[in-house]
Amino acid sequence: MHKRKPNGDARKRLLEAARRAMKNAYAPYSKFKVGAALLTTTGKLFVGCNVENASYGMTNCAERAAIFSAVAQLGPKMEIRAIAVVNNHNAPCSPCGACRQVIYEFGPKAVVYFLGSSGPKELPVTDLLPEGFRLK
Ligand code: THU
Repeated sequence: MHKRKPNGDARKRLLEAARRAMKNAYAPYSKFKVGAALLTTTGKLFVGCNVENASYGMTNCAERAAIFSAVAQLGPKMEIRAIAVVNNHNAPCSPCGACRQVIYEFGPKAVVYFLGSSGPKELPVTDLLPEGFRLK
């Protein structure tokens, strides 16, 4: 049986893994390093960091890097149970709109851990992205 909501230990583990991945970020333009870590419904952990480009629009966010790595490793049925995001400024930072849509695609019931404007937050992706787009 797969658990829906991770416990406090899982959250701590995710935040630590995100912080480690953040150190690998390539962010020479913004200097804003981001790390993400996700836990699948089968208990596997994947990490990502942001990778910027001189052609700014080619930048890839940490969250999508983690999700794409999980899909590459586990295949398209991979489901996200929880995803954490951290940054090197300890600044409030929730996943961008594009990442919310991608999280929703692979984890419609996922929980997102991030730093909100008044402290750490834990919200279902559907609170961050109401009425997320679905083809079917
Ligand atoms: N960024 C992420 O990686 N994830 C977020 O949730 C917000 C923004 C990155 C993109 C860019 O490299 C830098 O942060 C500044 O926008």
